[in-house]
Amino acid sequence: MKNASKKYNITTFGCQMNKADSERMAGVLEKMGFEASEDPFSADLILYNTCTIRDNAEQKVYSYLGRQAKRKHQDPNLTLVVAGCVAQQEGEKLLRRVPELDLVMGPQHANRLEDLLTQVFDGNQVVATEPIHIVEDITKPRRDSNISAWVNIIYGCNERCSYCVVPNVRGVEQSRTPEAIRAEMEALGKQGFKEITLLGQKIDAYCRELTGSTQEGRHKYTLTDLLHYVHDVPNIERIRFATSHPRYFTERLIKACKDLPKVCEHFHIPFQSGDNDILKAMKRGYTHQKYRRIIDTIREYMPDASVTADAIVGFPGETEEQFENTLKLVEDIGFDLINTAAYSPRPATPAALWENQLSEEVKSDRLQRLNRLVHISAKSRSARYLGREEEVLVEAQNTKDPNQVMGRTRTNRLTFFPGKIEQLKGKNVRVKINEFRSFSITGELVEVLD
Ligand code: SAH
Ligand code: SF4
Ligand code: F3S
Repeated sequence: MKNASKKYNITTFGCQMNKADSERMAGVLEKMGFEASEDPFSADLILYNTCTIRDNAEQKVYSYLGRQAKRKHQDPNLTLVVAGCVAQQEGEKLLRRVPELDLVMGPQHANRLEDLLTQVFDGNQVVATEPIHIVEDITKPRRDSNISAWVNIIYGCNERCSYCVVPNVRGVEQSRTPEAIRAEMEALGKQGFKEITLLGQKIDAYCRELTGSTQEGRHKYTLTDLLHYVHDVPNIERIRFATSHPRYFTERLIKACKDLPKVCEHFHIPFQSGDNDILKAMKRGYTHQKYRRIIDTIREYMPDASVTADAIVGFPGETEEQFENTLKLVEDIGFDLINTAAYSPRPATPAALWENQLSEEVKSDRLQRLNRLVHISAKSRSARYLGREEEVLVEAQNTKDPNQVMGRTRTNRLTFFPGKIEQLKGKNVRVKINEFRSFSITGELVEVLD
């Protein structure tokens, strides 16, 4: 094989979608005969799978690329690939900025990596950013974990949140068929995976474009139906899903999570802001009252469920009072974790053009204030585990303490306890919790359940 002994290195930025894409692209490269390498400065093929959700994510890529471009001058056989969301956003422009690049490919083209590389090895510089119908995933991903796997169920996003680049870079919604998803899950179960996270930027839109949401007389197949359909896949013990959008979140979904034992009691539902006028300017399509009702309903059905979210501070025009409404929502709900960010103007998004941008000082001050509150809230949520026995799925060694292993509760709390990974990896165990911090808990092994 002509690529034997050639090494590749993939660096992944951004969200779980990118991580899942990277695993598929790694699978393609290995099928082509490449071997994985940890070192991005000695490998023969370098792939950056990029993110552009905020400006700092995008800038990071350019600094890495600069170094690789220099290397290419010494080693013309080096193959340089930029994939993912910056590739999609910048396209040809990236080649002008970094002429040393061999391949620029948007996220919709991830499954076409072999075909695109063949063109590169034939001597072409390739840009693949045109919108396409995503080819069904026939590659075997090289997964980073062998316990927990991601499975894409819907690509793209049809929303138009005024701050967000995702619809520009990920394209329109495209759902995979329930059969393809189930087949992938069955294969994972056979390989020994125990946990699956179903992925979509707006997972509630699953199947909408396949079954049509308005046609009369046609059953609307939804995420809830999918959960029922895949629930009995052998060997899979836990099923998760992300990301949910408050506008489309249904009671039926909550009920399915309660009724279906494998579906974990964890909900990731970004609220972005606690102020109705800001939510409107963001074009989110719900009010903070509606968000609160969703969480209340979740807690009626599953009082112990964990709730996590994303939030943005310093959106254009956000007043101190409007920011305080976000603090208030955070205080009232009691989140287990929130991914927080200062608003970052993004190319080709409406809000970036508005004149009422806030200063960096105001944004970073609000971010710090929100983060302080998130820590307090997370810590009090962690406290509830103290003295309890929790079911933990063991994933890996604790990177900071080789005498401990790491896993997660069903509610997704990071959990550590003393033990040997060789004996415990992939096991479902009961752990008695005796210590808690904001984002993790520690305990002692009580028993191995399987
Ligand atoms: N589809 C998900 C989020 C995808 S992007 C949803 O609808 O919630 C992940 C997170 O990045 C968002 O939830 C948001 O909090 C943050 N984000 C997106 N655009 C941003 C921007 N321009 N500035 C700062 N944060 C942003
Ligand atoms: Fe972006 Fe909004 Fe789509 Fe989420 S729902 S990916 S925030 S446009
Ligand atoms: Fe980033 Fe693209 Fe995900 S912009 S957050 S990698 S969809």
